[in-house]
Amino acid sequence: MIGPGTGVAPFMGFMEHRHFMKEKRPAEQTFGKMWLFYGCRHKERDFLYRDRINSFFQEGILSKLTIAFSRDEDDVSGPKCRYVQDLMRTHKKELADLVMNQEAVIYVCGDANGMAKQVMEAWTEILCEYTGKSIFEVSVLLATLREEERYLQDIWT
Ligand SMILES: NC(=O)c1ccc[n+]([C@@H]2O[C@H](COP(=O)([O-])OP(=O)(O)OC[C@H]3O[C@@H](n4cnc5c(N)ncnc54)[C@H](OP(=O)(O)O)[C@@H]3O)[C@@H](O)[C@H]2O)c1
Repeated sequence: MIGPGTGVAPFMGFMEHRHFMKEKRPAEQTFGKMWLFYGCRHKERDFLYRDRINSFFQEGILSKLTIAFSRDEDDVSGPKCRYVQDLMRTHKKELADLVMNQEAVIYVCGDANGMAKQVMEAWTEILCEYTGKSIFEVSVLLATLREEERYLQDIWT
């Protein structure tokens, strides 16, 4: 799930749903892993649903949580990741493996012109490197993922 800013909204619904199902019938629930890529400007000012997201992570509803603070200069562990697509590049092998070998479903929500376009470029780069295929071949692969509803976008301009 890749959703910076208000793009995180539908993913809150996904996580609330799993939380509810887990509370209701804990023994019966087997869920796939969920990984959220979130981004905002400042950790202390505009991190939407911060407590709820952190509690989903503590609870195990979210298996992984990666966040880019675009305007917090001091929040750096390794190379500065300003945006979600920068985070994706730092986890490129794991992401490529999820898509190529583990039938991962990719959800992207938020700004269409900047973010979603650049996230698609990051996927192209990541999958080219992992598979050794050309940009054209990976574009076909991504188009197939879209057709199979494994690359789903809810984006706006
Ligand atoms: N008045 C305010 O204080 C305030 C605060 C937040 C949002 N807003 C407005 O509310 C609307 C929606 O906000 P939102 O929360 O959905 O989004 P947002 O706060 O504008 O952006 C969310 C995060 O996405 C980053 N971002 C910007 N361009 C990106 C790109 N090309 N690729 C990946 N990430 C990118 C932003 O970084 P940067 O912005 O640092 O580039 C920010 O860290 C926008 O019009 C926004 O301007 C207002």
